[in-house]
Order: sequence, then structure tokens, then C-alpha cells
Amino acid sequence: MTEPNTAVDASPELAEALNNDVAIAPVTGVDTATAQADAAAPHTQDLPHNVHNQRWQSYLKDCRELIHLVEPLEVAGRIVKVTGLIMVATGIKMPIGGACFIPLQDGGRVEAEVVGFDGENLLLMPQSAVDGVVPGAKVFSMEITETLPKPQFGRPPRRRAQDRARHFPVGDGLLGRVVDAAGNPLDNLGPISTEVTAPLSGRVINPLMRAPIEETLDVGVRAINAMLTVGRGQRLGLFAGSGVGKSVLLGMMARYTTADVIVVGLIGERGREVQEFIEQILGPEGLARSVVVAAPADVSALMRLQGANYATAIAERFRQQGKNVLLIMDSLTRYAMAQREIALAIGEPPATKGYPPSVFAKLPALVERTGNGARGEGSITAFYTVLTEGDDQQDPIADSARAILDGHIVLNRTLAESGHYPAIDIEQSISRAMHNITSKEHQQAARLLKQLYSRYLRNQDLIAVGAYQPGSDPMLDIAIKKRDQINAFLQQDIDEAAYMQDSLQQLANTIG
Ligand SMILES: Nc1ncnc2c1ncn2[C@@H]1O[C@H](COP(=O)(O)OP(=O)(O)OP(=O)(O)O)[C@@H](O)[C@H]1O
Ligand SMILES: [Mg+2]
Repeated sequence: MTEPNTAVDASPELAEALNNDVAIAPVTGVDTATAQADAAAPHTQDLPHNVHNQRWQSYLKDCRELIHLVEPLEVAGRIVKVTGLIMVATGIKMPIGGACFIPLQDGGRVEAEVVGFDGENLLLMPQSAVDGVVPGAKVFSMEITETLPKPQFGRPPRRRAQDRARHFPVGDGLLGRVVDAAGNPLDNLGPISTEVTAPLSGRVINPLMRAPIEETLDVGVRAINAMLTVGRGQRLGLFAGSGVGKSVLLGMMARYTTADVIVVGLIGERGREVQEFIEQILGPEGLARSVVVAAPADVSALMRLQGANYATAIAERFRQQGKNVLLIMDSLTRYAMAQREIALAIGEPPATKGYPPSVFAKLPALVERTGNGARGEGSITAFYTVLTEGDDQQDPIADSARAILDGHIVLNRTLAESGHYPAIDIEQSISRAMHNITSKEHQQAARLLKQLYSRYLRNQDLIAVGAYQPGSDPMLDIAIKKRDQINAFLQQDIDEAAYMQDSLQQLANTIG
């Protein structure tokens, strides 16, 4: 009870002090150089013994202690239910997609995202394990409130709900780094610069403002450069079952492409593969101009979704800077599966093969963010791997992906098993932008090679049993003669780069 008394006592003291220039004189610094101030100087030295000063000191000390006792007024909700993957919070109002956290008794915290609501209750999806959350635990919002305006830039526009959501590091500071889905470093190379940040969802580009696909992108893989030429800003799917060489092919593209920056999203794959991809497939020279976002299979579904969105946000930032980005997402199927996990947990009914409808809405929403920017901006050329389990091309995710992507490269297990790498099935694969960006001669050459290749495959069995009479089909005769040459052209070693000019030269030599 001494504090209030001190405060009351202090008021007359304040009035007294204000009337007393002796106590206040030392702080008026402007005229201190004058003789008058020199005369006042001895008083300054007397200060510690000044009774008024001592009272003020002790009063301010008491105030300081009181301030430390004050708890800031923060709106908090409470956790009322935790079942399976979902937590239910009440007493707090937050938008869908908003981030919040639950402080734990041991000092840690669980971060979560609002994924739905039910009446007054929010449905929260935790980002990590929920061990330690107790009934009635407090929930705090992590939304960014209005920031102070900066004089030279004006107020940052935060009109959309997403702009007030959490921001994650993007930009040049990430080059050569490996981060998790929340932008935390995984590579022990020190903290990530948070100077430039962006929310997870970018701004939608007006489709009429997008630059068209007009230039080729050299991916450093002969079969793709020559037969399935990729355009800057094109989005392709890499369709394959497990173990047929997706990661190796993506790694080759990352190392040999002429793109300025490579952003790799490793989503939902085995944790062991992350290290393997970075150390063996990407290698130090690939990593130097790459950013790797890793959200392996053991992280929560929410983090896997976030990882894919974060990798896209990083690529979007580089595109804004005018760079040509190669975005590699391994895999789109695991992204869809993470969305399925969340949608089913919040009660959405499953539709096609256990996938709820929201999954098929999320896929184009992710894919449409990549591609060319507005004119004058850079581009994001994207490769998404799509798992075709049991090499089933009719899988609903594969089907949906084929419809929303500008081309697909199919890897064939039979080719892989016979040691034909990269196991690209040139018959089934197509690049829908190719005829806009390549010359007539190039297209004709590619078509001819495809025809020869198919012709041989169709008659393979006949030839094998000796039932084919040379001379009866001139085209097949050429196909047989050129078979080894064509196969050698389509194959490429992991350590071999095949740039566009050489690829086209070799294509001409092969069919010539
Ligand atoms: N260009 C190549 N040259 C030689 N071998 C290759 C080539 N591409 C792939 N391979 C072989 O195929 C194996 C499997 O490749 P990879 O790991 O890329 O498959 P994946 O489709 O990513 O598999 P998963 O589905 O398990 O992720 C590699 O370990 C390698 O031995
Ligand atoms: Mg792989």
C-alpha cells in the first residue's frame, strides 16, 4: 500500500518542484555554455543529496515496478476440444487462414491455423504435435495489426485478409539455403534475413495482363529440349510411379537449366530423400542458386500445404524482381493428399476416390500462381511431379493435374527397368507450348523422330521373332537402322548437361 501513498504525496511535491528552478535547471541544456548555467553547475553536483530529487527517484522506481506488474490487455480464446487433427477454440474471432498460437505450460507453444468454423467456434489445425495442450488453454491471434506508416513509402496496403496474416522471409537472402515450411533454416547456416517478407498467398494476376509464353527455357536435358521444348512460364507435370527417376531428372534440370533462380519445394516426401536430393542430386553448384523448402512426410498436413505455398511465394518474389525462376515441386500429389487430410478432418465429405471437392479447387489455385508475370516481370516455369501409383494414369489427381497444366512428361517404368534414363516416354508426353516457341524445322525434326521411335515400338515383337521382311515398310527400315542412334539420343547420364543448341544439333544428326 505504500505505492498509492507515494503517488498522492508526490503531487504537492511536483507542484513544488515545478516552482523550484534549482531542481529543474540542470536539464535545460540549450544555454548551459553561458555564465549563468556555469553558476548553476554546482547544484547539479548536489543533486544526489537533493531531497526533492531523492523523492522523485524513489517515486519513479515504484512506478517502474508497478508497470512491470501490468499484463497487456490481449484478446484470448480458449481451447474447448481437441480431437484427432482438429482443435476447437471459442471466445476469439479470427478469419479463415488466420494464424494463432497456444502457449504451453512448459514455455513452448503450439501454432495453428484457422481452417473452418462452426457457429461461434473456430476449427484450428495445429502445425505441430499438440502434446501439452490442456483443456481451456488460451489461444492468441498472430495477425499482423496495422503497422505504423513510414514517411517515405506511405502506408503499406493491407487490404486483404491474407496481408494481415503471417509473413515469411522471401528474396535474395534465401539463395543457397534450405528452410522448412515456416522459413526456419534447416541447414545450420545461421538465421535467415527477414528484411523482405511476404504472405503465403500472392496476388492473383489478371489473365489478360500475363505475358504470353514466347521464349524457350533451356532445361539442360536433351530429350526435353529437343522433343518437349519448355517455354518460359510454362507449367508442366512430371507423371511417374515411384522409383522411376523423377528426383534425378528434376535435379538435372535444376543443375543445368539457364533459369536465374531455382526454387525447390520438397513436399511430403521421405525425410531421407531431402538430404539425398540436396547433397547428391542438386550438389553444391545447384544449391548455390537455389532455395529449397522442405516439408517432408513427417510434418503435419498443414505444414505440407504451407510448404508448397511458401515455395510458390518465394518464386513469386523472384519473378517480381524480373528473374526467370524454375520452380520444382515434388510432389503435387502429396500436396493434394495433405489437403485431403485437412478437409476430411473438418468434416468435408469425400467425393472422388476419397478426395473431397476442395482438393480439386486447391490444385488450380496453387498452379495458377506460377507462370509468366505481367509484362516486364520475370517468369516462373514450374515442374510438378504427379505420382501415378501403380502407373495408373487415371488417378483423380493425375487427371486433374493434366487438365490444369500446360503439358506433361510421362516417365515409363519399362524404360527405367531396361536402364533407359531419363525414362521419358516421348510418345505419351506433350508440351503444349512447344509449337508456339519453336521453329518449323525443329517441329518437323521432332515429329519425325517420334514417328520413327513409335514405328519401331509397334513392330518390336515382329522384328524380334524375325517375322518382319526388310523392304516391306521403308519407314520401318529407317527406324530399325536408326534405333540405336535414337535411343542414345534420348538417354542422358546424370552428370551430362545437354544445352539447347547441342540438343537441336544432335536431333538433326540423329534423323539426318
Ligand atoms: N539419368 C539417370 N542415369 C542413371 N540412373 C538414373 C538416372 N535417373 C534415375 N536413375 C536411377 O533411378 C533411381 C531412382 O531415381 P529417383 O530417386 O530419381 O526416382 P524417384 O522417381 O524420385 O523415386 P521416388 O518415387 O522413390 O521418389 C536412381 O537411384 C538411379 O539409380
Ligand atoms: Mg523422388
